[in-house]
Amino acid sequence: MDRRARRPDQPTVTIARALSDGGKLAWLYDVVVAPAWRGRGVGQALVRLILDHPTVRRARRVWLGTRDAQTLYAKFGFIERQDLPPRGFTTTDMVLCR
Ligand SMILES: CC(C)(COP(=O)(O)OP(=O)(O)OC[C@H]1O[C@@H](n2cnc3c(N)ncnc32)[C@H](O)[C@@H]1OP(=O)(O)O)[C@@H](O)C(=O)NCCC(=O)NCCS
Repeated sequence: MDRRARRPDQPTVTIARALSDGGKLAWLYDVVVAPAWRGRGVGQALVRLILDHPTVRRARRVWLGTRDAQTLYAKFGFIERQDLPPRGFTTTDMVLCR
């Protein structure tokens, strides 16, 4: 949503964040729909819009984490990490917590 176009008397209906390197990887974060608007297709419309954004569209893999909305993202083709095709080597996820 373009913040400049939002008037103070118009509540935010939905937000989401995406990061992309424009080619290989993108990440989708914080998809939230205001409670009063849930169950009307807004979340799916926003995910569709983000996946079609030019910089996200080019990413070969789009990652996200979700606690309980797996079936929402499965509608767009997301699969669980454990179901990815095996690679010829193993890697370790590492995190710097500050
Ligand atoms: C998850 C959320 C964004 C969905 O938004 P929404 O506008 O209600 O979703 P839509 O109406 O577009 O469609 C949701 C579809 O996903 C499915 N779904 C799967 N998991 C879901 C979940 N945890 N919450 C809502 N819907 C879910 C629904 O069953 C529905 O499928 P259907 O149309 O076949 O019935 C919204 O419920 C929300 O903001 N939840 C709190 C924040 C959150 O959990 N975000 C996800 C972080 S990854």
